[in-house]
Amino acid sequence: MPTSALLAELHSAAPLVCPSLLAADFANLGQEIRRLEQAGARILHLDIMDGHFVPNLSFGVPVVEAIRRVTRLPLDVHLMLREPGRYIEVFRRAGADLLTIHIEAAPDPVPLLRSIRHWGAGAGIAYNPTTPVAAIEPFLAHCDLVLTMSVMPGFGGQAFDPVALSKLRLLRERAGPGVLLSVDGGVNLETIGPCVQAGAALLVVGTALFEHRDYEQRLGELTGQAQRFAQVQV
Ligand code: DX5
Ligand code: ZN
Repeated sequence: MPTSALLAELHSAAPLVCPSLLAADFANLGQEIRRLEQAGARILHLDIMDGHFVPNLSFGVPVVEAIRRVTRLPLDVHLMLREPGRYIEVFRRAGADLLTIHIEAAPDPVPLLRSIRHWGAGAGIAYNPTTPVAAIEPFLAHCDLVLTMSVMPGFGGQAFDPVALSKLRLLRERAGPGVLLSVDGGVNLETIGPCVQAGAALLVVGTALFEHRDYEQRLGELTGQAQRFAQVQV
């Protein structure tokens, strides 16, 4: 699907829960993805960690390629890498539909965001809880997506930092309606509503989805909660 069509679809489907495979059973990834598809997932979030930008390692290009082979769902690839520019082309070729780089790893992100678009993916910037919105604001025109981190990146299962809510509200004012706002870290049945209310369109959820045996039920609950709060944006 062309990026413009994907972005339009994501905008119209918002608020959308975006399962983060970091919390999946890696020994049965194909089966996990099938279960998510059957549960109604519309997009998958993939966390790429290099052990330098974040103090953890996850998975890399071969795993993204393998995931691409077993699903047609759009892949939202979150690059937690110290040198993201070196890997844009390979992750795009591996099947990424959205590619997000961290501002803390790319102080001059414009060439990278251009490169992501050049390779035919949607371009995203992520920023940490300790980084202000002002650090990414100058680059919003080059972004299709902004990922507000509600935990320090590196690990699933951390508690949601409410600093993300005021940042989302500020971003909703500053970014044009064409920019998808995403939030990642500690999103669960309690925190998802306030995130949507603050303007988030994509809700990345790891632990709060995979901890439940019945993905369809939990995805339904999370989506229902998100939709309830979408009515009351502030
Ligand atoms: C954290 C990752 C997240 C993580 C979220 O560095 O970017 O995508 O998987 O996991 P939970 O939902 O468990 O906080
Ligand atoms: Zn992530």
